[in-house]
Amino acid sequence: MSVEISKKNINIIKNSASLVTRNAPKITTKMYEILFSEYPQVKPLFADAPADQHMKLADTLSAYAVNIDRLNIFKPALMVIAKRHIETDIKAGHYPMVKYSLMKAMRDTLKHADDDLFNAWENAYDYLADVLISMEKELRSLKIDNS
Ligand code: HEM
Repeated sequence: MSVEISKKNINIIKNSASLVTRNAPKITTKMYEILFSEYPQVKPLFADAPADQHMKLADTLSAYAVNIDRLNIFKPALMVIAKRHIETDIKAGHYPMVKYSLMKAMRDTLKHADDDLFNAWENAYDYLADVLISMEKELRSLKIDNS
């Protein structure tokens, strides 16, 4: 069964979009620090990542917050991500590691935000991860070759 997101959480995400966008580079810089120190085994996956990888994630989170209730227009961007994830061998089992790191980075950065916001972002992460994991599964089953 696919992950759902509540109307309440959608509203919280949309209302927090500008706060998150303003802080996104800080959040994602911290997120990679946490990810690589808590889960050093994933570091080699980022061997070819550009120096501005954290900005790519920051821009994606910002765009996602604004478009969360119309994911159809966001799907082409997600497809680019899913294809890159396939090329770098990202598996469903990696998603909880990024979730832990992202949520910790968000809590560390947005110190004055309340629990409703963090709970909504947890739900939003699960919702997005579910979409990406499904796309990646489908791409793998189609054996799409990007070379
Ligand atoms: C909801 C969760 C995630 C989001 C929003 C996300 C976002 C992104 C974005 C925007 C890119 C750049 C795509 C491009 O333009 O080339 C990317 C690439 C990548 N992501 Fe993710 N990602 C997520 C989950 C993960 C997870 C769980 C892992 C594994 C630890 C991961 C590892 C990577 C790697 C290795 C790349 C390729 C870096 C390179 O270009 O070499 N991502 N991701």
